[in-house]
Amino acid sequence: GGGSSLVVVANRLPFDLEQLPDGSTRARPAPGGLVTALAPILSRRRGAWIGWPGQPDVELEPTQNDGIDLHPVTLSADEVADYYEGFSNDSLWPLYHDAVAESQFRREWWDAYQKVNRRFAERAAEVAAPGATVWVHDYQLQLVPAMLRAMREDVRIGFFLHIPFPPVELFSRLPWRSQIITGMLGADLVGFHLPGGARNFVRLATRLTGATSSGSVLHHQGRTIKAGAFPISIDSAGQSALAATPEVHEQARQLRSDLGNPDKIILGVDRLDYTKGIDVRLQAFGELLAEGDPSVENAVMVQIATPSRERLESYIRMREDIERRVGAINGDFGRIGFPAVHYMHQSLPREDLAAFYVAADVMTVTPLRDGMNLVAKEYVACRVDGGGVLLLSEFTGAARELRTSLLVNPYDTDGVKEGLRRALSMSNVEARRRMRTMRRQVLTHDVDRWAAAFLSALEGTRDLVAEAA
Ligand code: UDP
Ligand code: G6P
Repeated sequence: GGGSSLVVVANRLPFDLEQLPDGSTRARPAPGGLVTALAPILSRRRGAWIGWPGQPDVELEPTQNDGIDLHPVTLSADEVADYYEGFSNDSLWPLYHDAVAESQFRREWWDAYQKVNRRFAERAAEVAAPGATVWVHDYQLQLVPAMLRAMREDVRIGFFLHIPFPPVELFSRLPWRSQIITGMLGADLVGFHLPGGARNFVRLATRLTGATSSGSVLHHQGRTIKAGAFPISIDSAGQSALAATPEVHEQARQLRSDLGNPDKIILGVDRLDYTKGIDVRLQAFGELLAEGDPSVENAVMVQIATPSRERLESYIRMREDIERRVGAINGDFGRIGFPAVHYMHQSLPREDLAAFYVAADVMTVTPLRDGMNLVAKEYVACRVDGGGVLLLSEFTGAARELRTSLLVNPYDTDGVKEGLRRALSMSNVEARRRMRTMRRQVLTHDVDRWAAAFLSALEGTRDLVAEAA
């Protein structure tokens, strides 16, 4: 009773919940960076989490897992198709990622988006204690802040967007642009990874809603709303400690030997998503092999591509493209028992991933656009040996912090190829110097610091309101 004083609202629960025949539920970690970042925060702060259990038509009672109160929200199969796959992932996802794929806009998807957002807002209104802090997350739930505000005046509302927030020209294509901005303005604090996202939001709010602004503070319908940049991170100490265990160390050694003890292991770890630029790095690796340096005896690539949004046409097409490329490279350059690219369309537990990070000499992170990219930070945190080279797209949020990575423009095929060549031939001295700077950044800017910064800024919005009065 009494409700929760910290409530997270996100499309997904931190666990995909499955109902077993005996009536019990099985919990498996849900995919993606949002869950990686928030789950440790919520379990340390003993909060409540409202979200979808990952399957259509699953009706579950509230439950507890890892110190988090889970409040499952049911979505019908139609809602999954229209709200989640349609509006969230076929309209907003491509649009917000610089339109690297074409956005589809359908009115029935928008209807479902509003309906499902209302359901999440209603659930938050039930779960939140008087005066609670409600923290709403990501592009699937941008209408929730204003809806919740209308139901509960007493709660403090924060909103954080985990993906890029696009410039005015791109966002303005959205037929429902004003409604989306008005929805976000229901929050007291609206957070983005980068200052540019916050600036885009302030510009859009003044253009589309009649809000006025002074710097990063907006005034709208008698209320004050703050916009700001809060670059997300990982549980750096936890990740580092995991990588330092003898089990992970042994697993990494085994992995290298299973791969035939090559000079260089090149790694990619991504959800199988067209924003990640998996094709870009395969192209570069394939061209280097074609030129004979490295040879398949010297270097192998491991690409872990976690299944994601598998019913969407754009994802189906991209998967076919990636798998065709992998097949072509292996056909051209592989030897019996020694493929050039080891491709896994699987989701791995974080312990196994840590062993891959520890084993990898070169980590390739080449998205065309990515809000942050936590995989890049995980690689750095896992390099307790101080070695390893990170090849990183300049169009990731992480590139702003990991300045001594090898930064590449993923649209520049020759540039990526040159970057990969440099990564493979970099001296230990240089690699260690670069890694040292990156480790300092990641270890001092962890996800606890991110959450504390956001929540204290949200707390501070009370003073802003007092100042404005
Ligand atoms: N991840 C995982 N198992 C996998 C692949 C990825 O647990 O097989 C995790 C990875 O460790 C990271 C997250 O998924 O924490 C991906 O976050 P990121 O920000 O890199 O990308 P997103 O998937 O959110 O776009
Ligand atoms: C990104 C998004 C998250 C999302 C995750 C996995 O990290 O920012 O909101 O949960 O991808 O995608 P999925 O569609 O499987 O939830």
